[in-house]
Amino acid sequence: MEIREVAVVGLGTMGAGIAEVFARAGIGVVAIEADPQALRHGLGTLDASLSRAVSRGRLAPSEQAEIRARVRPAAAFSDAAAVDLAIEAVPEQLEIKRQVFAELDRVCSPEAILATNTSSLSVTSVAAGTSHPGRVVGMHFFNPAPVMRLVEVVATVLSDESVPMTVAALARRLGKVPVEVGDRAGFVANALLLPYLNHAVELLDAGYASAADIDKAAAQGIGLPMGPLALLDLIGLDTSLSVLEVLHGEFGQPRYCPAPLLRRLVAAGRTGRKAGRGIYSYANGQATGADAEPAGVAGGSAPDTVTVIGRGDDQEADLATTLASEGLSVTRNPAHPSDLVLIVADVGQPVLPAALAAGRGEQAVGVHFPGGVRDCPLAELVRTSLTTKSAMASAAALAARLGISVVQAPDRPGFLVGALLYPHLADAVRMAQHGYADAADIDTAMTLGCGYPRGPFQLIDAIGAADVLAGLQAMYDAYGYPAFAPPPLLAEHAAAGIDFAAAGRAAAR
Ligand code: CAA
Repeated sequence: MEIREVAVVGLGTMGAGIAEVFARAGIGVVAIEADPQALRHGLGTLDASLSRAVSRGRLAPSEQAEIRARVRPAAAFSDAAAVDLAIEAVPEQLEIKRQVFAELDRVCSPEAILATNTSSLSVTSVAAGTSHPGRVVGMHFFNPAPVMRLVEVVATVLSDESVPMTVAALARRLGKVPVEVGDRAGFVANALLLPYLNHAVELLDAGYASAADIDKAAAQGIGLPMGPLALLDLIGLDTSLSVLEVLHGEFGQPRYCPAPLLRRLVAAGRTGRKAGRGIYSYANGQATGADAEPAGVAGGSAPDTVTVIGRGDDQEADLATTLASEGLSVTRNPAHPSDLVLIVADVGQPVLPAALAAGRGEQAVGVHFPGGVRDCPLAELVRTSLTTKSAMASAAALAARLGISVVQAPDRPGFLVGALLYPHLADAVRMAQHGYADAADIDTAMTLGCGYPRGPFQLIDAIGAADVLAGLQAMYDAYGYPAFAPPPLLAEHAAAGIDFAAAGRAAAR
């Protein structure tokens, strides 16, 4: 079936992005939005995106005009009568989606495909309320739709066989990569992404770290394209809350239970970038204000003499060498007086015992390099319950002098990078372990849908299953949360010393 014209219902952030994607591929778009103000806003989003592409030299002005001419704004469903496919991107509420589908069912030809861009709701429930459920399918785009390459195609038990195939072919024509996923809450990418974002909000609410540090830890310590809090603002806190509620309703796990702070921000209308305020405040598309600034350890002066304490391994030697090469006086003997004590920290071990053993608790700051000392863009400065503010400020000033980016973390298992990352990786492993999706599909979903440079399993392979297991076990021992319990599949990989990529190849032989 050839798709020549589509209808996009709802011109919010996602709807406008989806309309752009179709129009760019040469497909006519009827953009349906009943609220004139929302329609104006949606078309403004589309125009801004096209203009940005022109200003970056990615699109000729003539192409911009052609693309724009393919988008026909409309206020009524009847304008969708002749389309080959209609996709809705209205708010994540089953009742609203059902109403939209009832209208589309009434006006569209019986051959037209009806697609939902739902992030989490049951496509089967939406389909079951229509007169031709066989033509209903999930076609899930990711934000920003013009950029992210993944499209999750969701068939239901009611779908005609040809419908998901037509939609997958259409996604390829749009320059996207379709992945067929089962009709389960959150499909693959959101079921994995949202609990991680929710956890970041919990860490913020608990005062574990500042918003800027949480985002920096994810971007620089894990290498993700943006931090979880900035991503929440991009997706929309209201959308994220709705998705979490559906996930929590379906799976019942505490990790999906929306963080109270998330609910409060949504109730306050702080729904993210689209509202100009979410976790951060925005001016001209940029996060501004105190929340966007790194934690307050400024004002310290870099030390002249530093004591380095470690486990006698390469990291300790590397740090001592780096400091000495910068002209600092470095000692490894805690009995020698110095301005600052740096304790090379291990992610599974608290810093405090080493600080107490050195007899320098107040001056001692843990330092952890998530990627090893050399070439690591980020260091975690670990504050024990004895560390003074001036010691933290001094360590921060030292890092600034060395050109090392830092985040502050409490002396708890995982520090900050691990606290965000390990439970997220455990979720991915559990997903594979429960047969929800295989490791390769999960990696594809997260790289193409969320811009991860490496998928969760590629990350585990890079870090080492044994190290991830040790970090997770330390978190589980400390907190006892079921979500931190190391999944048996991870333990098997750690024990066998086999990475996930090799296991995938072995299974295919
Ligand atoms: N609309 C259109 N294009 C956009 C855009 C937007 N809102 N934001 C960025 N872009 C384009 C830019 O024009 C630029 O294009 P070119 O390379 O052709 O010049 C490109 O994206 C890169 O943008 P920038 O250089 O400005 O910024 P960046 O390199 O920091 O990338 C980002 C921005 C693409 C958003 C990147 O940070 C990223 O991939 N973030 C992760 C996004 C993510 O995880 N999305 C999935 C969310 S989950 C979801 O959406 C599902 C759901 O149902 C809730």
